[in-house]
Amino acid sequence: MTLIEIANVSKSFPTGQGPVEALRDIHMTIEPGEFVCIVGPSGCGKSTLLNMVAGFEQPTRGQILLQGKPITTVTSRCGMVFQQYALFPWKTMAENIEFGLKMQGLGRVERRERIREYLRLMGLEGFEDAYPDALSGGMKQRAAIARVLANDPEVLLMDEPFASLDAMTRQLLQEELLRIYDVSKKTILFITHSIDEALLLSTRVCVMSARPGRIMASLPNTLPFPRDASAQLSETYLRLKTSIWDSVQAEVQKTLRLKVSPS
Ligand SMILES: Nc1ncnc2c1ncn2[C@@H]1O[C@H](COP(=O)(O)OP(=O)(O)OP(=O)(O)O)[C@@H](O)[C@H]1O
Ligand SMILES: [Mg+2]
Repeated sequence: MTLIEIANVSKSFPTGQGPVEALRDIHMTIEPGEFVCIVGPSGCGKSTLLNMVAGFEQPTRGQILLQGKPITTVTSRCGMVFQQYALFPWKTMAENIEFGLKMQGLGRVERRERIREYLRLMGLEGFEDAYPDALSGGMKQRAAIARVLANDPEVLLMDEPFASLDAMTRQLLQEELLRIYDVSKKTILFITHSIDEALLLSTRVCVMSARPGRIMASLPNTLPFPRDASAQLSETYLRLKTSIWDSVQAEVQKTLRLKVSPS
């Protein structure tokens, strides 16, 4: 059964200058176990789309279904890693992770174990008692990922989770995410600006148009697993990258032109 169905969804935001149409008539379905990467120019509505799947926002038209039921509120079945790391500044790393586990009703001992396990997984061992202010941007983002993974959601929603990280940390976390995907077979909806990242991680790449965002292309990523950087040398990789780049390039140019002359 289809896990997520985004059924003819449009979204506008009211503003002082009239409504801003962020998304227009998005239709896509996501099957269990898919790893879908969405690429598209800045401001095309990618975060808006993910926020609606997470239940933070509601569509203006159409609906989003999780196993056939409309998503009307935030559910623990979907875990979100935000574009800007979202941690409670008044809680320590351990307390930040513990929050969701308490909500799930886990006992104290199990909570402690999970916290330790996921902090270790993200290379944050020994930082249990540190507050977010005392950590670097990369460490905060890793803690935000640990918090979501510790909750073990069925669907991972990730909004450019690695964009602010240095290249080495990004590569390590990409590999870690591939490993988590391999063992857990979670369904993942992942937003990125990087076509290389999309091709390294996904089983399918969706390309969005400039605002109002629409899905322009949905390309199965046929690169075999397990994947590493050497996949970039294959003919399939170059073919896929060229076709994604051709669609994205025209849309990015539209966005830039819009910014230069807003008429
Ligand atoms: N709460 C809001 N109120 C008004 N307009 C909004 C709101 N949220 C988003 N928008 C507008 O909707 C459009 C899409 O924004 P969104 O953040 O979804 O883009 P994005 O594709 O995630 O961009 P980026 O790649 O830069 O993160 C933008 O024009 C933005 O200004
Ligand atoms: Mg965004």
